[in-house]
Amino acid sequence: MTQQQMNKKILVIPGDGIGAEVTTWGKAVLEQIGKTYGHTFTFDEALMGHAAIEATGSPLPDETLEKAKASDAILFGAVGHAKYDNDPSAKVRPEQGLLGIRKGLGLYANLRPIMLFDELLNASSLKPEILKGTDILFFRELTGDVYFGEKKRSADTASDLMIYHRYEVERIAIKAYEAARLRGKRLCSVDKANVLETSRLWREVVQEVAKRYPDVETEHMFVDNAAMQLVKNPKKFDVVLTANLFGDILTDEASQIAGSMGMLASASIGDGTGFFEPIHGSAHDIAGQDKANPLASILSVALMLEISFGLSEEAKSIKAAIDKTLKAGYRTGDIADADTDKSKILGTTAMGKKVLEYL
Ligand code: IPM
Ligand code: MG
Repeated sequence: MTQQQMNKKILVIPGDGIGAEVTTWGKAVLEQIGKTYGHTFTFDEALMGHAAIEATGSPLPDETLEKAKASDAILFGAVGHAKYDNDPSAKVRPEQGLLGIRKGLGLYANLRPIMLFDELLNASSLKPEILKGTDILFFRELTGDVYFGEKKRSADTASDLMIYHRYEVERIAIKAYEAARLRGKRLCSVDKANVLETSRLWREVVQEVAKRYPDVETEHMFVDNAAMQLVKNPKKFDVVLTANLFGDILTDEASQIAGSMGMLASASIGDGTGFFEPIHGSAHDIAGQDKANPLASILSVALMLEISFGLSEEAKSIKAAIDKTLKAGYRTGDIADADTDKSKILGTTAMGKKVLEYL
């Protein structure tokens, strides 16, 4: 039992697609942790993305941002809808909600741990002997870069400004170095400094910050090479520090190391309320069919407990429950392989319940 009993306000933002199905289980796990360890979690809900556009016209209603700021942590599902993906001219888009809340809450650091459960070594398209032992923590910058630079469009040209300020690179570099210090003491900063001016600034600032962490071994790597090394020898990485766009792409790639996008959780942090979400998207193709893997949402809750509330024992118990569920052979479709006992391939609900049982 942890000494301190906590009383925390959690805002759940299910969003679109499979968001509601998976956050249901993240929330259920939080409730059970509350009962077991004597913490009180109170829940509120808010709209974002396509769901919010339909209801209010805005992907991020003011009310959602206000509730977010007033909460102690946010559990988020996903945003997106196929309708907008095939309509490049749409001015109002679900993703603007997510980008808006990242900016609005100052969530500049996105932590994406690539955690490997041994039982899932065969679920990956990569060879088990290449994967075994991999443990990477990505620090993706989240409120700068080409995502937030000025966008321009005329009939025949379009541009997105890729821009970084020194302070933006410095503050996430510090967070990444602090984390590296507590882990394998190796940090790989990924950029494209052979071509991009923003990357040259990035590298300059990281080199400066590196001097304050002589105990951490620093490596600088170009993003194209990093993309290749990740699948060639993922074990070589410990902490990876990178910009917004590169981090978006590399973490989807790295999710295959963990077997499936359905396994990866992420924490977005800054100076205020933390935001916890699976890295997978809204997956409309399987929404409402009880097929989505709830484990990334449940792992997001473990990150929340650890990072926002310092409840590492509780977080560990969640990871242990997932481990037991997988050891017992239960899988959702995305992490099943040829050897999986068909009777143990579960839907979202049954998988969520199994984790609760083991918890
Ligand atoms: C992610 C997603 C988002 C991003 C989209 C939905 C805007 O892909 O969180 O990785 O690009 O950051
Ligand atoms: Mg992404």
